[in-house]
Amino acid sequence: MKKLKLVSTVLMVAFLLLLSACGTSKSGGEEKKTLRVVTDAAYAPFEYQDKGEIVGFDIDFVKAVIKEAGYGVKVEHVGWDPIFVEIEGKTADVAVSSITITPERQESYDFTVPYFLSKNEILVPKGSTIKSAKDLDGKKIAVQNGTTAQTIVENLYGKNNDKLKKFENNNLAILELKNGGVDAVVADNTVVETYVKNNPKDNFEFIEDDTAFEKEFYGLLLPKGSKLKADLDKAVKKVIDNGTYAKLYKKWFDVEPDVQILKD
Ligand code: ARG
Repeated sequence: MKKLKLVSTVLMVAFLLLLSACGTSKSGGEEKKTLRVVTDAAYAPFEYQDKGEIVGFDIDFVKAVIKEAGYGVKVEHVGWDPIFVEIEGKTADVAVSSITITPERQESYDFTVPYFLSKNEILVPKGSTIKSAKDLDGKKIAVQNGTTAQTIVENLYGKNNDKLKKFENNNLAILELKNGGVDAVVADNTVVETYVKNNPKDNFEFIEDDTAFEKEFYGLLLPKGSKLKADLDKAVKKVIDNGTYAKLYKKWFDVEPDVQILKD
């Protein structure tokens, strides 16, 4: 009797050890690793929190891509600056956060092939005297720290621009505009336009300026030299080509995407 108990205890312990051995599960004899995805969920409609859940176009998209690549996925909100720390330190496998592919970032990180076309845009109170990017000169501007919006404004009006206020996330930049602390916010067009549409009481409008703001493409951010790049590139293309991308695009933006622009 005692012996039986000992044997079953040993078996139990062995089983538990096996279970906790790694964050992998087996399916069809193949290892299915779960990828840790980090994001800054304060950029609706791409990534934001709704009733404690992380949702948005990017979130649906990254889940579809990672599933297509044959991995499990766990998305975690860590904030914007920590994304880059985690990817550089390889404590996360992938970041999704409307991250523009730039030559500077490419020096330290890898990106997948592009999945979204974006541009910066200006958010102002209705009736503002700001009608184009050049009107921003001398005005108080809020941006999210470390974004392409910051780089653009600094390139236009100088790095030591004391009228440029940098915030940890874009919602705080918009809050500053609401409170009258700045004259404008610069951020990605879809985010700005979604805000205007969803918050009519704020009386904001958006200003496009194709001469000042260039085309930007989002990519999934990966550690430099990541072995996942080949798999994820393939999966991004597949998700775009098999119609999943268009389905998600329609769900979040209510229009058909121009997928050709991602391929040129
Ligand atoms: N596209 C811009 C950039 O890459 C802004 C991205 C901000 N994303 C966010 N989740 N807050 O710099």
